[in-house]
Amino acid sequence: MNIAVLGAGYVGLVQAAGLTSLGHRVRLADSNPDRVGQLLARKIPIYEPGLGELIERAFDNNLLTVHSSNREAVEGAEVVFLTLPTPAGDDGSADLRILEAAVDELAAVMADDQLVVTKSTVPVGTALALRERLRSRGCGVGVVSNPEFLAEGSAVADFLRAERIVIGAFEDRHADIVGDLYAELPGQIVKTDPVSAELVKYAANAYLATRLTFANAIANISEEVGADALQVLEAVGMDRRIGPHFMHPGPGYGGSCFPKDTRALLSITDSIGYPFPLLQAVVSTDAMQRARILDRTERLLGGCSGKKVAMWGAAFKARTDDTRESPALILARGLIERGATVVVTDPEAETHEFSQFDDPVDAARDADLVIVATEWPEFRRVDFSRLAEVMRGRTIYDVRNLLDPDVVREAGLEYIGLGRPNV
Ligand code: UDX
Repeated sequence: MNIAVLGAGYVGLVQAAGLTSLGHRVRLADSNPDRVGQLLARKIPIYEPGLGELIERAFDNNLLTVHSSNREAVEGAEVVFLTLPTPAGDDGSADLRILEAAVDELAAVMADDQLVVTKSTVPVGTALALRERLRSRGCGVGVVSNPEFLAEGSAVADFLRAERIVIGAFEDRHADIVGDLYAELPGQIVKTDPVSAELVKYAANAYLATRLTFANAIANISEEVGADALQVLEAVGMDRRIGPHFMHPGPGYGGSCFPKDTRALLSITDSIGYPFPLLQAVVSTDAMQRARILDRTERLLGGCSGKKVAMWGAAFKARTDDTRESPALILARGLIERGATVVVTDPEAETHEFSQFDDPVDAARDADLVIVATEWPEFRRVDFSRLAEVMRGRTIYDVRNLLDPDVVREAGLEYIGLGRPNV
């Protein structure tokens, strides 16, 4: 099929590349000329495992073209995916201005037999609103909601091994067209109405955020009562009604989705007058996690003033270069506010906000404390004897429970994990 994908961000790039791997011809558009230039030079603007290979193959097979104009990209496309940013406005609600501007542009050029599919996470009711917006401009295209469930760092695999593909359409024939696009993928196709499809995305992300915030609370309780949270949560997860995934304690959630989507769902529930204190508590409990880690760091340092901390990690999680709402950087800022000096190291992510080192040991030179804030496997492979030689202090505070405590201690350092007072 001929497809257009508007917006070459994380979602758009993976969607475009993934569709070409299924044999579709994709025209990818982005308004940022630098991004278009990079792609035309076959440079991948983000770090996402497996994406480069897919895009390279798509170019080689003449299945992918890149455009700086939406109008040009939608020409001849049977299906047009909108993968545009929907940033959070001041009140937490999603800001749809970019999406609306694109739709206004499309209304003038699209024919009624084309389909517009929203992929960006959008408030419940957006597909309907966009359809009305198009109709009011004399454009009769079909509108479908097809939310993405890609996690950064495994987005290509998530696309190719999708667990479910949710398609919310006003008309069955539109759902069938979008379903056919993905026919080769293993995931179960769920056909529903657009409002339900839009709500699936928020419900899934709010549930996952709740689950991991609960795991963090159990970790904190474990710290206080002397239990080992990793063993507690592992045993809890053995109940098949609960399952083992997504309960790894850490510094709370970051990234482009959970912080934004939890707030957006609260804004939706506010607007319909439905109180959702459970989700409000998740958002505030998550923020408390970073505050708790900062307090503990300050105690470990005996006061922050004049102390140097090496932050291992800048990305919001491993296997991505994305630092949006990264707990590592929120912790770094918090320590600076409390009077410490902070340097950062990360294998992929770059930050211009802090001095950054490529080598974790170089970052830790003269440091009073190291915080392991992102779970990069690279940090496990550090030479801890060398680390012990260059550090001023002795403490490694591993808020991801990434390192092997014995290896750290054998090097003469003090290991402190999260929710594991006895290891
Ligand atoms: C998420 C959803 O997983 C994805 O389906 C959706 O489309 C977009 O949002 P992403 O933001 O890429 O994807 O990251 P995810 O792997 O879900 O992690 C979110 C945050 O939770 C990260 O900060 C991560 O470090 C944290 N996390 C996750 C934990 O602290 N512990 C866990 O057990 C899992």
